[in-house]
Amino acid sequence: SSTAHKPRGSFILFEGGDRCGKTTQSENLVKHLSSKGVDVALWKFPDRQTAIGQMINAYLQGKTETDDAAVHLLFSANRWEKRESMLAALSAGQTLVVDRYAYSGAAFTAAKGIPGLDLEWCKAPDKGLPAPDATIYLSMMPEAAAKRGGYGSERYEKEEMQRSVAQRFQDLRDATWHTLDAARSIEAVGSDVTRIAEAAIEACQEGKPLEHLWL
Ligand code: TMP
Repeated sequence: SSTAHKPRGSFILFEGGDRCGKTTQSENLVKHLSSKGVDVALWKFPDRQTAIGQMINAYLQGKTETDDAAVHLLFSANRWEKRESMLAALSAGQTLVVDRYAYSGAAFTAAKGIPGLDLEWCKAPDKGLPAPDATIYLSMMPEAAAKRGGYGSERYEKEEMQRSVAQRFQDLRDATWHTLDAARSIEAVGSDVTRIAEAAIEACQEGKPLEHLWL
């Protein structure tokens, strides 16, 4: 059609365990897309700047102990509080490259193996959030990830936990999912990332509607 309306931006999500290279790949993708003239921004969850994000930050750094269910709901609330600005950016035509989202939320809490906090319970609070157009899962054996200069000191950065998280991510795979072998070079992973992102952007330009999570 010949509408003057600007096509919406694409929601491109990176997921994976800790130290899989998400940050490097998401930053490189944003640089690449910007250089091609794409209106693009890099987002990251948790967003540690908000009041809720500061509570999450204190928990991750081990400064506070928070009930596992309560902290799960804080991570989810931290996405809901960004929902409106996310939708506004996308509909204004801006592509969002996002480092972690609701799949991390469900995978990390479910990985704790707490009775009652199963995958369905973990997914429930995020139902209805904007869904990604493409999810790039950077897959890496926790042993290999640990060798990349070691895990940091934050909660969850332990091999045993990371193995459990990787299993939960497998249960969350959906139609948006692309698994990349993240043990390869930055360049090799990056060229796959670029291909997936450009296809997602093109689909949105052609009118692919934004979907919602897990309804
Ligand atoms: P980051 O290292 O990417 O900043 O993420 C901080 C940690 O929080 C990381 O171990 C993954 C975890 N996490 C959750 O447990 N739930 C969530 O909803 C998100 C987004 C991250």
